[in-house]
Amino acid sequence: MVSGLLLLYLIAQCSLLSHAVTVYDPAGAEQPTGSSGSAAPGATLGNIGWISALNAYNNVRLQAPPLPSPMPATSFALTLTSQAQHMAGLSIPQRGDFFGFSIEMSVVEQVIGKNASFIQVPFLNLLATLADRAIDVRIRVGGNTQEMASLVSSLPDNAMITKDNSAIAGPVSTGQTPTLDYTSELLYLLANVSSLVNAKWYLGIPMNDTTHLRLQIAELGDAILGDNVLGYQVGNEPDLYASHQRRPEGYDVQDYSDEFGVMVNGIHDDKQIKNANKLVAPSLQGTWKAEDLWATGYLDAYSTSIGVIAMEHYPDQNCAAEFPDGGFGPVKDPQAVFPNYLTHASGQQIVQPYLNTAGIAQQLGKEFMMFETNTASCGGFPGVSDSFASALWAVDYGLQMAYSNFTGALLHVGGQNVSYNPFTPPPTNLSLFESWTVGPVMYATLFVAEAIGTSNTSRVVDLRANGGNDFTPAYAIYENDALARIALVNFMNEQDGFGSYNVTISVGGDAVGEANAAPTQVQVKQVSIRRYLLAPSVSDKDQVTWANQTFGGRFAADGRLSGTEVVQTVTCNQATNSCLINVPAPGAALVFLSSDAQAQENPKATHTYSTTAVTNPVATETVNPTALANSNGNSGTFPLAGTSKGGANGANHHFTSLSVSWLSVLLGIVFRLW
Ligand SMILES: *[C@@H]1O[C@H](CO)[C@@H](O)[C@H](O)[C@H]1NC(C)=O
Ligand SMILES: *[C@@H]1O[C@H](CO)[C@@H](O)[C@H](O)[C@H]1NC(C)=O
Ligand SMILES: *[C@@H]1O[C@H](CO)[C@@H](O)[C@H](O)[C@H]1NC(C)=O
Ligand SMILES: *[C@@H]1O[C@H](CO)[C@@H](O)[C@H](O)[C@H]1NC(C)=O
Ligand SMILES: *[C@@H]1O[C@H](CO)[C@@H](O)[C@H](O)[C@H]1NC(C)=O
Ligand SMILES: *[C@@H]1O[C@H](CO)[C@@H](O)[C@H](O)[C@H]1NC(C)=O
Ligand SMILES: *[C@@H]1O[C@H](CO)[C@@H](O)[C@H](O)[C@H]1NC(C)=O
Ligand SMILES: *[C@@H]1O[C@H](CO)[C@@H](O)[C@H](O)[C@H]1NC(C)=O
Ligand SMILES: *[C@@H]1O[C@H](CO)[C@@H](O)[C@H](O)[C@H]1NC(C)=O
Repeated sequence: MVSGLLLLYLIAQCSLLSHAVTVYDPAGAEQPTGSSGSAAPGATLGNIGWISALNAYNNVRLQAPPLPSPMPATSFALTLTSQAQHMAGLSIPQRGDFFGFSIEMSVVEQVIGKNASFIQVPFLNLLATLADRAIDVRIRVGGNTQEMASLVSSLPDNAMITKDNSAIAGPVSTGQTPTLDYTSELLYLLANVSSLVNAKWYLGIPMNDTTHLRLQIAELGDAILGDNVLGYQVGNEPDLYASHQRRPEGYDVQDYSDEFGVMVNGIHDDKQIKNANKLVAPSLQGTWKAEDLWATGYLDAYSTSIGVIAMEHYPDQNCAAEFPDGGFGPVKDPQAVFPNYLTHASGQQIVQPYLNTAGIAQQLGKEFMMFETNTASCGGFPGVSDSFASALWAVDYGLQMAYSNFTGALLHVGGQNVSYNPFTPPPTNLSLFESWTVGPVMYATLFVAEAIGTSNTSRVVDLRANGGNDFTPAYAIYENDALARIALVNFMNEQDGFGSYNVTISVGGDAVGEANAAPTQVQVKQVSIRRYLLAPSVSDKDQVTWANQTFGGRFAADGRLSGTEVVQTVTCNQATNSCLINVPAPGAALVFLSSDAQAQENPKATHTYSTTAVTNPVATETVNPTALANSNGNSGTFPLAGTSKGGANGANHHFTSLSVSWLSVLLGIVFRLW
């Protein structure tokens, strides 16, 4: 182990070319890019007790469930019309940025950056990877902590955010929400992120106190973020206000509806807020039925002010683990809940209560978003939420939401002590640039972005494949009115050579009263998990791959995909009008029906911030760390001067196409402390 390595990282961009500059301590050997996975520095971090005690880095590995009994057919046909007009049940047109992220306000400093001049480079790289496939990434900064947040003009030690635990709200047993103070630097940080990568933001207006409104976040958001702010969430899970002791017992839909009206009026009266009609609400958690709220006349009264009708839901909770005295009963056994995530029924059950509201949103011309979701609330289930199973679950759940006319879903990022994060920075006091942990659900965001694509015309349909079997779900995506892609999921875990399935896809043909339309060949990309020597398992946690590329194992990611992309080409049988696709157990495959469908959605090379020259697509230089340390010292004011608009103009090359003269220095001073 190299000790005392001081790794400084700097990004400089001169005129049209970006130069990623990597700096190594003279004493330290150059590290391989973390994404290469294997012997990453972090491999042993998981053995350090206090680290593995944090749920984000837990070492729990569950038993994969046995094969289902009875087994579904492992060979079946899908016969599809090539034309959308003949396909029943298609969703509304969806956008590639369907999956985004919800970042708890209290963890912004760890995940996004310390201040506007100190941005977490791996975070930028992760966003760039998704934005290259989805055009943009939608991110909500908020959560429970938004409710108690206050803008202050400055904080001790030049901090951007501080938690004040002395003024804790809510009962100790069910989640104390610290009061949170933040400065305007937070908004500049987000603006600077958007100038580097095409990130769009949702912010939260606190609703803890409707007699003294605190609307500053929206005033500043409009002023500083401009078009990069998509809307303001007003109220977070109001159906839990009473149980969290933030409102009196008995607080009901009518009380909330009235209070929401106070918020709406206050926001409209505030002339500094331009986006007063882009509110996000009601963000129910599921304790109240949406229909009961609608019955109060809520939508009639306020829908003109609402841009996004939002819900927040997790299919399960692990609250007894987090709050042993919270009245949640015995702690749930992750092994027992594991199979619940390995079935198409999960996503179907989650969306079911929302189908009616999805229709209402459509009639009102509003977006309908799952604003905060993940495998399980109260931290997730270690061994489930961070296993390969969760990647497959999120692929199926995401496509199920798209099919059900949600218009987007934000996967929650909750800090170091939750196991479901799409991405987690290294343990707080070990700030390692390359030692992020990318969760399996992150790969699902790439899959779903490519499945939907960038045309804004994709409509999704659940094919109820294989007799509607829950272990072998399939979706078709029609784009510009024609069949473009098919997503196939296999929730089964291979056992004694059984579990994989073959699907024979036919396009057009007599069965659907059309001319044969199977292409001569199709392209296939898979989400898989790499396992050396042994067969991969749904319970594995490391080395998830998308088309053979990986962000790297635990503690081994810098946010860039590495490895050779593998796109399989499958030759179809023109005589039988069919293409035979094998889906491994476990795994998920995305079938591109035409090379067009593939080329179009296949992102151009992601040009991102790199840490080494080895895989860096842009020019890199190595700089003496002392020089950098000095320049960094001068750079309290470094201008991330920003006229550049990340990635707009359809540019996929966020980091090479920034055309402004932006001589910036970057972005992280990182210490290895062991
Ligand atoms: C709302 O939150 C603010 C900031 O944390 C706090 O000062 C205030 O007392 C809270 N109001 C109520 C009614 O809880
Ligand atoms: C992390 O969560 C677990 C429950 O899952 C809890 O027992 C533990 O105290 C938490 N650790 C920290 C540092 O909050
Ligand atoms: C989604 O909306 C479309 C268009 O209105 C509708 O035909 C379809 O039935 C809806 N899907 C679901 C699952 O409700
Ligand atoms: C980091 O924090 C943990 C938990 O508080 C502590 O046990 C550990 O010693 C700290 N490590 C360093 C290098 O400060
Ligand atoms: C898709 O929609 C987004 C957001 O509304 C828009 O910015 C983008 O230009 C659209 N793309 C196409 C190809 O129309
Ligand atoms: C899938 O098809 C291939 C090629 O025909 C065959 O070798 C394999 O056994 C089949 N697998 C299943 C599960 O039917
Ligand atoms: C998949 O990626 C690995 C690691 O980069 C590489 O060794 C392997 O050759 C790739 N597989 C194929 C089929 O290219
Ligand atoms: C930003 O944060 C970094 C790291 O904490 C710190 O070194 C730097 O001084 C801060 N810059 C400003 C302008 O506050
Ligand atoms: C980036 O942050 C700095 C410091 O707050 C600020 O001066 C600058 O305007 C920001 N750039 C953008 C594009 O917002």
